[in-house]
Amino acid sequence: MINPDSRLKTIWDNIILIVTVAVAFETPTVLVFRIPLSGPFLIFSIVVTVIFSIDIVINLNTAFHREGKLVKKRGEILKNYMKGWFWTDFFATIPFELIFISTPFFGLNRIFRIFKIIRLFKLARISQTFSRFRSKNIINPSIFRMIILMFWVIIASHFIACGWILLGNFESTMTDFDIYLQSFYWTVTTLTTIGYGDITPSTNGQIIYTIFIQITGAGMYGFIIGNIANLIANIDIAKAQYREKMEKINTFMKYRSIPNDLQSKVNSYYNYLWESRRGYDESSVLEDLPTPLKSDISVYLNKEIIEKVPIFKGASNAFIKEIILHLEPVVFTPGDYIVRKGDMGFDMFFISKGSVDVVSEDGKITYATLSSGQFFGEIALLLSSPRTASIRTNSYCDLYRLHKDTFEKVLERYPDFEEEIKALAEKRKAELSANN
Ligand code: CMP
Repeated sequence: MINPDSRLKTIWDNIILIVTVAVAFETPTVLVFRIPLSGPFLIFSIVVTVIFSIDIVINLNTAFHREGKLVKKRGEILKNYMKGWFWTDFFATIPFELIFISTPFFGLNRIFRIFKIIRLFKLARISQTFSRFRSKNIINPSIFRMIILMFWVIIASHFIACGWILLGNFESTMTDFDIYLQSFYWTVTTLTTIGYGDITPSTNGQIIYTIFIQITGAGMYGFIIGNIANLIANIDIAKAQYREKMEKINTFMKYRSIPNDLQSKVNSYYNYLWESRRGYDESSVLEDLPTPLKSDISVYLNKEIIEKVPIFKGASNAFIKEIILHLEPVVFTPGDYIVRKGDMGFDMFFISKGSVDVVSEDGKITYATLSSGQFFGEIALLLSSPRTASIRTNSYCDLYRLHKDTFEKVLERYPDFEEEIKALAEKRKAELSANN
């Protein structure tokens, strides 16, 4: 049984994608230019038939996902395939042209070759391959959608150009290539509503066709332009949102005549948020996820802080997950007071980036400097007492805040952690009293 996510299956899907695109270009071209089925075209037809047949066999042997589970039972796979894409694959595989060429009805071949078009059914399937590409998240989703849109526009233009050829009378001096180039050019000028008018319909059929393409083309053009504008705006959705936020805040600050130095402080704060986390608020981005998934992602995102904080080292996974889920990322600007001596405290903080000074109430005496991986604010929580010192930032600081309620719950359940943190708090208190 083939795994649908395996490398081999992905390679095979890519082969099918390439062959299907080739078929999409070859089929209408062969039909409108009445190219005889011989030489490379005969070989191509045989190769496509073989590859599409192998594809059916492969699909019959590929497990599929249902409600998150991998279904491997042959019967189920068959049922699923029959309900889904089997008939598309089946009809796309029948080599109508090869059948007619090898029967006594050879004379009918030219008429019956029209059935070749059925092969184009396979095009409907390639959206599946595209969505699999998209889910791999290799390139920006908006750029990817733009590429897909362009792909369909090119395929549609090719079909329209072939229709134009079918209905037209061309000068006998023109080669097939000239005719195609001219028709494709006509298609593009018409679809984009530019319509130079240098190539005009030569038959009634072409006039009717032009009217049809003009009407549908105008709608299609509007759709494409609208989509492209939307996709471009969304290419960097984070940047767009960030810019919008900055503009709103700057307009507000101007309107309320906020002093210039405060305005530049706000701006540099937002710049820092952009540079350090692309403006994302990690806690709200993941809000909708189920808790286990959220905690896995949080552990991954915060693995740096887990590695940096010595008391987390060697702690059990359950403990780390519990703490991480309740850590709230916060940012402070240089010179901010995070904690003031004498205030009641309801949170403790872990430093992820930056450094802070432990200072006296007036800020003149510095008792200690804490940096990445260290924590503060635990004394007020452990003793339910006022803050023993003030904490002032030295630089931009990325911190994680842990609320008192969570802190107490965690202490209850993990006595080792309680002991360690209590010991450090005692040491710090002793140092403070020695300094005062
Ligand atoms: P808390 O009293 O809640 O608020 C001020 C914090 O400063 C305190 O908790 C400790 O985490 C921290 N602190 C106090 N004294 C020192 C010290 N000597 N060295 C490092 N940190 C300290």
